Amino acid sequence: MSNDGRFAVVHNGIIENYLELRRELIKDGYIFQSETDTETIVHLLELYYDGDIKAAVMKTAARLEGSYALGIVCTDTPDALYVVREASPLILGVGVGENYFASDVTALVSHTKNVIYLEDGEFAKLTPDSITVCDCAGREVKKPISRVTWSVEAAEKGGYEHFMLKEIMEQPAAVKAALAPRIHEGRVQLDGFELGEEELRGISKIIITACGSAYYAGCSGRYAIERLCRVPVQVELASELRPMVDEHTLVLVISQSGETADTIAALKECKARGAKVIGIVNVVGSTIAKLADFTLYTFAGPEIAVATTKGYTTQLTVLYLFALYMAEKLGRIDAESYTTLVKELQHLPRKLQQTIDMNWQIPKLVSRYASHSLFFIGRNTDYAVALEGALKMKEISYLHAESYAAGELKHGTIALIEENQPVIAVCCNEALMDKTLSNIVEVKARGAKVLALSCKGNKKIVSQADDVIFIPRVETVFSAALAVVPLQLLAYYAAKEKGCDIDKPKNLAKSVTVE
Ligand code: M6R
Repeated sequence: MSNDGRFAVVHNGIIENYLELRRELIKDGYIFQSETDTETIVHLLELYYDGDIKAAVMKTAARLEGSYALGIVCTDTPDALYVVREASPLILGVGVGENYFASDVTALVSHTKNVIYLEDGEFAKLTPDSITVCDCAGREVKKPISRVTWSVEAAEKGGYEHFMLKEIMEQPAAVKAALAPRIHEGRVQLDGFELGEEELRGISKIIITACGSAYYAGCSGRYAIERLCRVPVQVELASELRPMVDEHTLVLVISQSGETADTIAALKECKARGAKVIGIVNVVGSTIAKLADFTLYTFAGPEIAVATTKGYTTQLTVLYLFALYMAEKLGRIDAESYTTLVKELQHLPRKLQQTIDMNWQIPKLVSRYASHSLFFIGRNTDYAVALEGALKMKEISYLHAESYAAGELKHGTIALIEENQPVIAVCCNEALMDKTLSNIVEVKARGAKVLALSCKGNKKIVSQADDVIFIPRVETVFSAALAVVPLQLLAYYAAKEKGCDIDKPKNLAKSVTVE
């Protein structure tokens, strides 16, 4: 709140030059109650206010560097809310006799499905009966009202104890929603992706960039694309991307929220260097969806739990579709393999349901394997799954979990294995089975207890591991989409046993809108 008590703000984002502003404001006599960057905003509003709130907001915004979605109230106009955004999501909800603003569309769906997406630099005044939007020069602009298709039920728990469990259970339906509109008469069609065959042939490499689980989805996607299309794929953390890209590079930017600041920055960088960008995004109207040259929506529906589950599996699904689409267009796959793989993809929702049904015993494994720091190991596609499994465990159960490429153990990490060290071995890749089995034997010989994850019917693994969880048999190239499910459940039940706040783990936000 401002010193004169006239203004109060809520802020999502980060003000990068706040120390400089704070020093200046303190010199001018303003008293700070906190160490936050946000507090500088409210004092600037007081400084620039001369009876015209819009002018004060615009002048304040002009001083701020960084990212912000601001909601402002002023005691002089108690029936109005003022909002402004820069590099941080801000959505207006249009109601009847009431209007809203939020950073995320999921917060609005139970109130209204009519929304206005604000652009960077735009300012709006909301009263119960009106919304006025102005551009960064203060000129009034007419904004279209979009209709959100997500249902209210989808944004509620529907009888489940946590959103995360509900979202795990929704995966068969979510993957079906991602597949169904894109497979017609046995062929993959990607509406929204309009590169001609000539242009596709001109692509010399693909870069996948994303953060967190979306990055791990990219790691799995890489194997699918390289195997089916024989085009080199580089997977880069968006926050580390120093792109060697040009107009012959195709960039896949993956994001559930479409608002992750690091991913947006990477996207802009790649576009500036001439690359064509495909966004693989869940939230319609999000920044990445708007900035990308083409957008492939994942159709997962609203994902509320901070730990992504259906967001991740639908990202994988879109990557698989993309790999098959490209492989066919480039003539790198024979007709028989293409038909088989498309059919196999169509079976994924059913197999996901089987995976969930087969894994009812997971809660019983929790006390044995999730009471200590955990190692997740695997090779190739299984390694990508291990990465995601370890992240899930860390973020919701707060247990220390690390993932290692199984072949790397003996290059150092195996020194950490001691009596009773839990090791989760992902072993779904038939071609690499024997090698991973050797790694299981190595860690067991040093005292580890091993929980293996493999495809049904794998007898060898039963004789080597202490416990085994199975998924249905599946083409290796798509196995990550099934294999991740038991690991999501393991993390969920571990967090539940520890009494953690599963849907809102500490220190984390659903969308990370600051770099
Ligand atoms: O919305 P995005 O997919 O861009 O989010 C990326 C990561 O922040 C996200 O996947 C994060 O790692 C999840 N909390 C993992 O469950």
